[in-house]
Amino acid sequence: MPLADLWPVLGVGVRTPLVELFVPDGDALEPLARLAADGIYDPQNQYLPRIPVGGWEDVASPEAERRFLRYFWAAFADWRPEKWNLMLAARVDGDLVGVQEIGAQHFAVTRTVSTGSWVGRRFQGAGHGKAMREAVLHLAFDGLDAERADTAAWTTNHASLGVSRAMGYRDNGTTTRAAEGRRVEQVNLTLRRADWTRSSRGCAVTGLSPETAAMFGL
Ligand SMILES: CC(C)(COP(=O)(O)OP(=O)(O)OC[C@H]1O[C@@H](n2cnc3c(N)ncnc32)[C@H](O)[C@@H]1OP(=O)(O)O)[C@@H](O)C(=O)NCCC(=O)NCCS
Repeated sequence: MPLADLWPVLGVGVRTPLVELFVPDGDALEPLARLAADGIYDPQNQYLPRIPVGGWEDVASPEAERRFLRYFWAAFADWRPEKWNLMLAARVDGDLVGVQEIGAQHFAVTRTVSTGSWVGRRFQGAGHGKAMREAVLHLAFDGLDAERADTAAWTTNHASLGVSRAMGYRDNGTTTRAAEGRRVEQVNLTLRRADWTRSSRGCAVTGLSPETAAMFGL
């Protein structure tokens, strides 16, 4: 019996002409953990405080890979219909390039998702971040019938802001946070369903069923 029969969201994914997002199994998790451990932040970008995505960014191998795995598995272990976070691997032309996350709280009521992502350093700046976000927004709006997608980035994270703005997100205020002992401004962005204009031609959401709907709290 496939594990996804017992834990149905393991079978959820989305494919577009540019990227495939899927829940990685053991075979894909190993190279993904190595990609994560190779680094996701450019050390030259001193202006960019790191977001402690999974706590693996500042430690050496193999602890970095292990922390990534712990972060990945925790998302599934902590899954509840009222609070979930789906971690999807991104594959482009056979290469694993990064991770796209989509999460929600009380989704049946809020119909609001949040997203976060990273692209391995050697794959950055090639449009994969935009392709991944576009794909996960198809999952949100077409697959899960979301009404709203939120995200956030430091004011200095031009790549992340570039991805959001390319998708049509609108600025939704700022939040002051502490990062590495410094005060930093975070830009909050929101994309409403009415502003989502991308064609779903060539896109396919997979793995949605009454069982997965229940896990998403629907
Ligand atoms: C943010 C991130 C996911 C974007 O992915 P990416 O593949 O590098 O980005 P893309 O190539 O799709 O480019 C996205 C947009 O930002 C722009 N951009 C990319 N890198 C940039 C940079 N260093 N400075 C300014 N703009 C940049 C691109 O030109 C593009 O804008 P355009 O549509 O106007 O051309 C990736 O850079 C990353 O993983 N960064 C480290 C982790 C991180 O910051 N995650 C997000 C936390 S909020």
